[in-house]
Amino acid sequence: MKNYINLTDIENLKALIQEAKVMKSKPSEEKPGKGKTLGMLFFNPSLRTRLSTEKAAKFLGMDVMVMNADKDGWALEFEDAAIMNSDKAEHIKEAAAVLSQYCDIIAVRAFPGLKDRDQDETELVMNSFKKYASVPIVNLESATAHPLQALTDAITIQELSEKTRAKVVLSWAPHPKALPQSVANSFTEMMQQMDVDFVITNPEGYDLDPKVIKEVRVEHDQEKAFEDADFVYVKNWSSYEQYGQVLEVQENWTVDQAKLKKTNNAKVMHCLPVRRNVVIADDILDSENSIVIQQANNRTYAAQAVLKKLLECSK
Ligand code: CP
Repeated sequence: MKNYINLTDIENLKALIQEAKVMKSKPSEEKPGKGKTLGMLFFNPSLRTRLSTEKAAKFLGMDVMVMNADKDGWALEFEDAAIMNSDKAEHIKEAAAVLSQYCDIIAVRAFPGLKDRDQDETELVMNSFKKYASVPIVNLESATAHPLQALTDAITIQELSEKTRAKVVLSWAPHPKALPQSVANSFTEMMQQMDVDFVITNPEGYDLDPKVIKEVRVEHDQEKAFEDADFVYVKNWSSYEQYGQVLEVQENWTVDQAKLKKTNNAKVMHCLPVRRNVVIADDILDSENSIVIQQANNRTYAAQAVLKKLLECSK
């Protein structure tokens, strides 16, 4: 594995999940990251990704440098041949090359603008770091993907599944702000690689990118989708069709205990942060159905498995 930007960078998913599970059950004294440095750049806020990835790197013996690139760094220019006579002080060509002198792995978080779909789909920030850095790049959530979250989710479902082929439902839920499709995209791509019965449910107008959905069943009736579900993954995303917009939805899509009645006493997942009683009701988050804390804990082991693999491959 040269980078971890998309799930397609994973060479052997089964082995990577197994590695994360072993790391969780038997913390190793081995420090493959000794003398190596992870640099993390955040263009957007984070709690879990920042702290779990730092913890993972330290477990491996790495040093960690973190920068709030949006606030503390020079404004970066990403366009080739730009005449930099405005607000952008540093070009990604120098920034990525310099960071590669200080870091053995660079991890970047950069959300989409949600204004221009074609622009967001170019993944300009992530791909520019990949192009101009000389060390591996890790995606800490980009315009269209959150592969560390998806690996965490796969580990969590494998750990807690009581069936050989669980039914997993990804349910859209309301949110007052326009959110990226990244988590839903990567979760959908991950579920297509796992032996699960996977269904997406969302209101009309909120179907994800057809290139991501492929053959997955999309059910616009949430109650019907929830029938016999073993896992319900709740997440808001803004419209892909009317890109980045929050469309009006008549039905109530907030997930609460009443909606779980049709499920197989489903375990409820969310990547967090979650808006209580808008996305998921208290009666779920404060109940045994919620596995959001176990899920967040697994962020560390997913990051550890990925960083270890990148260290091995860049020797
Ligand atoms: N799930 C997730 O990525 O959380 P943060 O935004 O807090 O990092």
